Formats: sequence, structure tokens, C-alpha cells
Amino acid sequence: MPLDAKKIAEIYQSKVAVGYDFSMGHFFPVYKKRAFEESSLKPGDRVLVFCCGTGADFGPILEKIGPQGLLVGVDFSGLMLAQAAKKVEQNRWENVELVEADVTDFAYTGGASFDIGVCTLGLSIIPDYRRAYANLLAHIKKSGELIIGDMQLATGWKSIFNPWTLLMAKKFGGTPEGHQNAQDLVQQMAKDLVEVKKREFFLGAYFYLVGTLR
Ligand SMILES: C[S@@+](CC[C@H](N)C(=O)[O-])C[C@H]1O[C@@H](n2cnc3c(N)ncnc32)[C@H](O)[C@@H]1O
Repeated sequence: MPLDAKKIAEIYQSKVAVGYDFSMGHFFPVYKKRAFEESSLKPGDRVLVFCCGTGADFGPILEKIGPQGLLVGVDFSGLMLAQAAKKVEQNRWENVELVEADVTDFAYTGGASFDIGVCTLGLSIIPDYRRAYANLLAHIKKSGELIIGDMQLATGWKSIFNPWTLLMAKKFGGTPEGHQNAQDLVQQMAKDLVEVKKREFFLGAYFYLVGTLR
């Protein structure tokens, strides 16, 4: 399946959304949490989360920014956001705003008012990933931070696991093209950011990158 925004929207408006937390809740949270630990997230920060889905990253982010911070989560799937809204309600988080929008053209009032921009498991399934990435950057303050996590195809001996990675990611919209795009973005981030920390997990199938805007 080639990368196709309409297909991705269909996937996340289907039963995939309903079973998402059950399918994805096993391995990724541990790796993702490490990124938030390594970031500069601190009490009072304003955080913009693109492709927030069911809000899987909200807990560890809110732990860091506290009740005086703000988390704005953006996703174009109403079904995924409905689950995020449930988490918000159950946990009585009062500083979370959920916005149903396409991250390639989302615009927050106040523009570049965020300290940190986050996107995990999102950019590699967006055909216009460069536009989404540029839009996330456009909302972050000068010297703010970016936290990106995504699937990738491993290199070297670990590449023997790539067919498994592709199989696992397919149900969620993952494609070889998208994994390649993630690598393209890593190179772009190396240019746009300083103090970059890049880590790989899952036999090279998942990476995160934390860096400060130049
Ligand atoms: C694999 S899920 C990741 C969700 C969450 N970040 C996580 O790590 O659990 C991908 C999410 O990206 C959203 N998404 C994909 N393309 C999008 C776009 N162009 N605009 C907004 N959301 C998008 C989907 O609806 C889905 O919720």
C-alpha cells in the first residue's frame, strides 16, 4: 500500500482505533517515556502533541509539566480523540485541549507559543510529512524543543528484522516509503536542531530523537 492520506484516515476511523491501546500499549510506552525523561520538559511548559491519537503520551508529559502547564493534542481521527478524551476525563486532567484537525494545516492561535513539540508514531504515515514537520516547528518558540519518535527500517545485521517491522506496522499505515521518509526527517532534524539525542530500540525498528531548535 503506498502512503495515502485518505487510507490513513480510514484506518484510524475504524476498529483499529478502538483496539489501539491494547495493541500498542506493550512495548512503546517504555521507550517513549525515556524520550520524555531525556527531554527538557518542566513544570509550566506548553506542549503541542501532533498525531496524539488516544493520548498514549499524555501521562508522561503531564507528569513533567504539572497542572500549570498546557498540553494541546491534535489528531484528525475523531475515534482516536474520543479515547483520548476518555483518558482526560478519567484522570481529571484539566490542562489538556484536544483539537480535531489535520496536522499539515492546523494553526493554533498564538502561533509559535509552545515550548515543546511532540510527534510519536505519526510523521512516517503522513504523505506530506515535510509539511507536518514544518508546521510543528512553526508552533515552537525559538530555542524550544522537539521530541519525535517513529518506526524506521534498521540497517546492518538488524535489517533481517525489517520484514517483521513492516508486517507489524502495516495495520497502522506503515509502509517502506513512510519508514524511508522518517529517515529523511532524521537528516533534516540534524540540520534544524542542536544537542540532538537519538536513540534506537526494538532491534532498530523504533527511534526517538530529542533536540533543541537552532
Ligand atoms: C500510530 S497512531 C500514533 C498515536 C500516538 N501518537 C501514539 O504514539 O500512540 C497515528 C495517529 O496519527 C493520526 N494522523 C495521521 N495522519 C494525520 C494527519 N495528517 N493529521 C492529524 N492526525 C493524523 C492518526 O489519526 C493516528 O491517531
